[in-house]
Amino acid sequence: MSKHRNKFIAVVDKAMTDAEKMAPEELMFSYKGILYPTTVCNPEAFKALESFEARKDDVFLAGYPKSGTNWVGQILTDLVLTSAKHNEEYDSLDDEELEEFPYLEVGDAEKYQRMTNLPSRRVIFTHLRPENLPASIFSNKAKILLLLRNPKDVATSFYHFTNKLAPLPSFKSWDDFFTAFMNGQMPWGSYIDYVSEWNKHADDENIMTITYEELKENRALGVKQISEFFELNLTNEEIQGVVDRSSFQAMKENSEKTHGAFGNVLFRKGGVSDWKSLFTEDHNREMDATFEEHLSETKLGRKLKYGVYCKV
Ligand code: A3P
Repeated sequence: MSKHRNKFIAVVDKAMTDAEKMAPEELMFSYKGILYPTTVCNPEAFKALESFEARKDDVFLAGYPKSGTNWVGQILTDLVLTSAKHNEEYDSLDDEELEEFPYLEVGDAEKYQRMTNLPSRRVIFTHLRPENLPASIFSNKAKILLLLRNPKDVATSFYHFTNKLAPLPSFKSWDDFFTAFMNGQMPWGSYIDYVSEWNKHADDENIMTITYEELKENRALGVKQISEFFELNLTNEEIQGVVDRSSFQAMKENSEKTHGAFGNVLFRKGGVSDWKSLFTEDHNREMDATFEEHLSETKLGRKLKYGVYCKV
């Protein structure tokens, strides 16, 4: 697993070095009304992305930043590589030369052309909302695993992350951050809008939704369901290997190899309900009211079990 992470580490390290030389107001740019980090995204690549050709057997992971995308991304990649070992494709799948940064929207405008050379099955992550994804993903019926996390923990995780990482904006206080989060002034936009937009696809048969919380509760079951959804045909023993390698502890210990220095910031607590350490009564009231207004009656909103994970 470690060989093919070199590209990831190189891109993240470069973003951190570049950001050190930038003024705070240069760190983000807006595209179609949503903010993105200048160090890793650019409008030319977004334009080129529109004509990206998805394959029916592509393996997509969609998740808003801080919902556990690196975690579930590792699970998916591990499942696909383990499955590929069943036949000869394995060597080319693990070929570092063919490596691209796993997040679809991160990279240069030529990336999508290079991706045509990647062998199947390609594992592709994205933080983008569905209306900003290339249309071929839906028309070619590629399967998507949609990862959701309770909004209070997403905000909490994002707050710690953005303040520790040079390419992202810094906030003087949790209060300032919370205001920006609720107004959608975040890289990749508003989380509430993110869930609302994906809710329009809640009944798509090519989309499986999983929550961070259910994976925390029963990782073995979640990994098995993911493997079945993508029809990867793994043995129970192989599934168990993926489960073992994806514990918070195992990933944190291995993070130097998989994520470089970025791993120290990424693998923070890995738990549920850390929001209780930051949310005051006012923050709770505002988030509860926003959730109630926009998501509580939706299919994905119900999947989040807000009453269990977000109520005091
Ligand atoms: P916390 O900041 O709450 O600890 P993303 O990868 O989308 O940026 O999400 C990061 C969050 O996922 C962080 O949450 C991180 O600790 C958590 N995470 C990473 N690996 C994990 C694992 N193996 N198990 C549980 N949580 C994990």
